[in-house]
This record gives sequence, structure tokens and C-alpha cells, in this order.
Amino acid sequence: MTAPAAPAGLAISVHGLTKKFAGREVVHDCSIDVPYGTIYGFLGPNGTGKTTTIRMLCGLLTPDGGEGTCLGYNIRTQSALIKRQTGYMPQKFGLYEDLTIRENLEFVARLYEMPAPAKTAQDALHRLGLEQRQNQLAGELSGGWKQRLSLASCILHAPRLLLLDEATAGVDPKARREFWDEIHAFAAQGVTILASTHYMDEAERCHMIGYLLNGRLLVHGRAADIIAQSGLVTWRIATDDPVGLKKRLEGRPGVEMVSSFGAELHVAGTDASALSATVTEITAQQGAKAEPMTPTLEDIFIHTMTKANLGAEQ
Ligand SMILES: Nc1ncnc2c1ncn2[C@@H]1O[C@H](COP(=O)(O)OP(=O)(O)OP(=O)(O)O)[C@@H](O)[C@H]1O
Ligand SMILES: [Mg+2]
Repeated sequence: MTAPAAPAGLAISVHGLTKKFAGREVVHDCSIDVPYGTIYGFLGPNGTGKTTTIRMLCGLLTPDGGEGTCLGYNIRTQSALIKRQTGYMPQKFGLYEDLTIRENLEFVARLYEMPAPAKTAQDALHRLGLEQRQNQLAGELSGGWKQRLSLASCILHAPRLLLLDEATAGVDPKARREFWDEIHAFAAQGVTILASTHYMDEAERCHMIGYLLNGRLLVHGRAADIIAQSGLVTWRIATDDPVGLKKRLEGRPGVEMVSSFGAELHVAGTDASALSATVTEITAQQGAKAEPMTPTLEDIFIHTMTKANLGAEQ
């Protein structure tokens, strides 16, 4: 069998990836194409196969089915070459808690056989603003600083691909924002980034999105195209009684999803005229104010999940 050719312009190009654990398929027929320099947001509920997919991309797990390339290298046969040029930030803190920040960075620099590990570590400390804390034990750091250290260690060898698995889970909004500014700076230099996240504001900062549900990639593409092609019509309703209004709307013609956002409801469906008739009728009864809106990515994901769960129950 000849190896698949690496497609020009694509940092990640995998097709039909499948993975089973103890006979249970947790990733099913997953195909992802990501151009160089793109930030790809990888979303989906807990246990849906994101980490498993990321591990298959960098050769830490062998797929049971499917094939493809990362950075032009075959994921099955050239994983050592992929790992050399990839920074992988695992979901769980992967560094030594009983080494200092500096020691951890030097250790990683040696792992990558960098010519001047001490200088490499020093440069990374400086770049990421960690100099003041260089002698602190990694295990004593707060969540946000652990995350900065993890990022610093996975970019030491100047990777061309970053695989970030929930890199900002539990990190405060300001630190998350700074983290994403750094991610964008890497992408501007041509680095490709695949980042799994549960945060919708982070999804909105990505060039492309994949939404995985029960091991299946249900949504894949550029954010604007996903919104345009969703076929989802959404109304925003301002109300004093979101809980009562939600109950009145659920199950009515055209209403496929209702979610609360503070004192607002987002009501969505794919049958525009049925939805419009229901929203007009119910809001008139309540004296609530409704207006059409462009669906958010979150609206689309919740709708996708609701539809898939309904399908599974039938
Ligand atoms: N090594 C393993 N052995 C057996 N089952 C596993 C293994 N790794 C993952 N799984 C199972 O595979 C499924 C997918 O897990 P995975 O960690 O890929 O999900 P995830 O989307 O990353 O979830 P989360 O958002 O919680 O991190 C889960 O049901 C999990 O229990
Ligand atoms: Mg995970």
C-alpha cells in the first residue's frame, strides 16, 4: 500500500479516523483538514473524543481506522517526525511538580536536544514573563501560572503545530485573553494551532471550528460559513419572566431550542415561518419584546446537540 500524499497547504489532513477502547468506538470516521497558519477550535461535550483525536494526530495513539498527515508526515508511520515539530499541551498538567519553573524548562529543552538548554529556558522565561518566578516549584503555582509554564515548555522547540488540549480550563478571563493573544501571534508567524475548549468566547476567536459529538464530527468549517449554512433562524426575546416564557415556548410549532441568557431567551428553529408565528403569538400574550438575530456559534452547537440527542432517542 502506498502512503497517502501530503496535501499542499494543509497542516492537518486526516480522514476516517476511528478509535475503539475495549471494543467501544469513541471516535468515528473523523476527517479534519486544517490549512497552515490556521487556529482550529475543537469543541464538544465531555467524553466525546477530543483528547483521543488529538492524541491520534500527534502519534501518541494509533488509530484503528483512517489515515492522514500532520505537517506533511504520515500519522501512522512518521509520528517521530511529527512529534519533533509539534507542541502538545496535555489536558492534565504534564510537568514535574517538584522541579522549579526554570528546571522544568531546561529539562524539556534537553528532551528536544536543543543546543543551548539554559539559554533556551532563559529566553522562554523572558518571553512569557516568568523570570520573577523562575525558582518557584511548578507544583506550587496557581492554575494560571501552571498554564503559562505548560505553554512555555511546549513552544521551546519552535514547533510548527500546536495541539492544545483545554489549555485554559479554570484560568481567569484576563489570563485567557492574554493566552489567546499569544496564540494569534503564533498563527500570524505561520504556526498552526488546534485547540480544544469548552469556552464559546474562545471558539469565536478561532478561524475554523470542529464540533465533535459522541465521536462524530458534526460541524467543521470556518465560523462564518458554519453560521451562514446552519439554516438556523434565531430570535432574541427580552422578558421579565424567562423561566415561564421558556416553558410556554418549548414544544410549540417551529421551536427546536430555547436557551436562557440572563433576562433574554434565544429561541431557534429551522422552520422560519412556524417559528416566527409562535414567537409573535407568545410574546404578544406576554408583552415581551422579540427581534430576529444572527445565531451565535453556541446556538448552533446546542441546536446540533439537541437534534442529535432527539435522533438517538427515536
Ligand atoms: N485510554 C483509554 N481507555 C479506555 N477508554 C478511554 C481511554 N481514553 C479515553 N477513553 C474513553 O473515550 C471516550 C472519549 O474520551 P476523551 O478523553 O477523548 O473525551 P474528551 O472529548 O476529551 O472529553 P473531555 O471534554 O472531558 O476532556 C470517553 O468515554 C473516555 O472514557
Ligand atoms: Mg479531553
